Amino acid sequence: MKKIHSLYVTSKDILFKERYIIKFYNELKDEVICFLDKNKNIKIYSSICPHFGGEIYYDKKNDFLRCKWHDWKFSKDTGKCLSYPIKLKLNPYDFEVKPNNLKKYNVKLESNEIYLNYEKE
Ligand code: FES
Repeated sequence: MKKIHSLYVTSKDILFKERYIIKFYNELKDEVICFLDKNKNIKIYSSICPHFGGEIYYDKKNDFLRCKWHDWKFSKDTGKCLSYPIKLKLNPYDFEVKPNNLKKYNVKLESNEIYLNYEKE
């Protein structure tokens, strides 16, 4: 039976400052990008380009994801390639922010931690 596991990604204060972070997780055998888009939505995708394995980064000015190697562009909302009509897309990850209810816990934004969730037996 599969269980949900969580991996610490970063804190919201770091993400608000940096706009995006990239981390490799041995548990996933994947590198992920966690970023804050222009609407202040947090998103997490695999940061490995489906074209040839280049590194994905978040283009703050244009509000989409790009590859450092051949400059393909990817949707920040779906991970779908915007440069070419390919079937492959960036792998999205579920995540949660703990504690996630700011009003209830009345915590500062700086104390919110972001965790990536994945399933494993
Ligand atoms: S490896 Fe990413 S566009 Fe070619």
